[in-house]
Amino acid sequence: MKKELSNEVNIYLANIGVSYIKLHNLHWNVVGSQFKAVHEYLETLYDAMADVLDATAELLKMNGEMPMASMKDYLAVATINELESSEVDANSVMNTVLNDMEDLKIQALSIRKLASEEDQFDVVSAMENDIENYNKTIWFIKSMLK
Ligand SMILES: [Fe+2]
Repeated sequence: MKKELSNEVNIYLANIGVSYIKLHNLHWNVVGSQFKAVHEYLETLYDAMADVLDATAELLKMNGEMPMASMKDYLAVATINELESSEVDANSVMNTVLNDMEDLKIQALSIRKLASEEDQFDVVSAMENDIENYNKTIWFIKSMLK
């Protein structure tokens, strides 16, 4: 795997790690009449994010690359921003998650393209799988925001 690709996958991994915690923040701190629905929905998202975190790191290991494995490393390169620990209304929560999922999808699309140019098919396949999941989540959230 070329350095440029492993760097990009590591930044993606960092974003997944930050998103995992950020989704917990929102799960704990969402308020309003839609609390229960949003609280429970976010749990399904962070559970799925945990699987992506593991799969992405192991993809790097299988290719002889070192996945970043500390919050310190993640925060140094992540492009997904963390939030303060404070209450958030359900509408803001869903808009925040929508933006983050769209950003993750854009990053996965760019990694897929780079991996495809290198014929790195395991990375292509992983990104295609993730993109499909982002598409579903984006559709769900957009429907909830209508
Ligand atoms: Fe919980």
